[in-house]
Amino acid sequence: MKKSKIFVACDTSKISKIEKIIKDTKNNKLTIGYKLGLEFLNSKNGRIFLSKLRNKIIFADLKLNDIPNTCAATIKAIKDLRVNYLTIHISSGLDALKAAKKISGKIKLIGVTVLTSLDNKALKEIGFNKDVKKLVLHQVKLANKAKLDAIVCSAQEVKLVKKLFKREIITPGIRFKSKTNDQKRVLTPYEAYANGADWLVIGRDLTRGNIKKNTQLLIDHLNQ
Ligand code: C5P
Repeated sequence: MKKSKIFVACDTSKISKIEKIIKDTKNNKLTIGYKLGLEFLNSKNGRIFLSKLRNKIIFADLKLNDIPNTCAATIKAIKDLRVNYLTIHISSGLDALKAAKKISGKIKLIGVTVLTSLDNKALKEIGFNKDVKKLVLHQVKLANKAKLDAIVCSAQEVKLVKKLFKREIITPGIRFKSKTNDQKRVLTPYEAYANGADWLVIGRDLTRGNIKKNTQLLIDHLNQ
């Protein structure tokens, strides 16, 4: 059977914590990648640590959101890190997505749709007049136009998104253990895969407390 694919969200600025996450999530039942985000990559030693990491699937969650020239120049500036995946907000606009895609080369460019911490009320507050599902679908069409390699959306939208987007779908907002915290659109790992997600992003449910135990809990949950 194909192994379930999990990106562990390494939301910390401590190198020792990252090393522990890598060691304690190691297992032969899951394919594990590591998502290093704004917190780690902006920390003093984060970039240096990443530049030395070998033979790991790395997802740099930089969530670029800027004008085309700046997005492209940033991708050029991080090429030495040899990351496998990189995020850009689809709301950066089609020209920025195309400019980023043109320069990204072997890096898989992931378009971020509506953050999983946002619900319909929050979207209205920002000034959007579409609901979450409609806005996600609208943005997925832009991802297609820019030929992005993957998209991020919540597991709740995957079934709909799959009809339009034929490449990788990555879903954060996953809970198998704890409360939702700041996330609004959540599902369990089992539900997310059942809906058709390719990769799940899991942070706190794996990295808080006993990481080895949490990893085993996740494996048991997926084998239910
Ligand atoms: O701890 P938790 O599982 O909620 O972590 C989710 C991770 O996924 C965080 O690192 C967050 O930055 C990221 N993310 C998200 N929603 C998106 C894109 C990324 O939660 N739409």
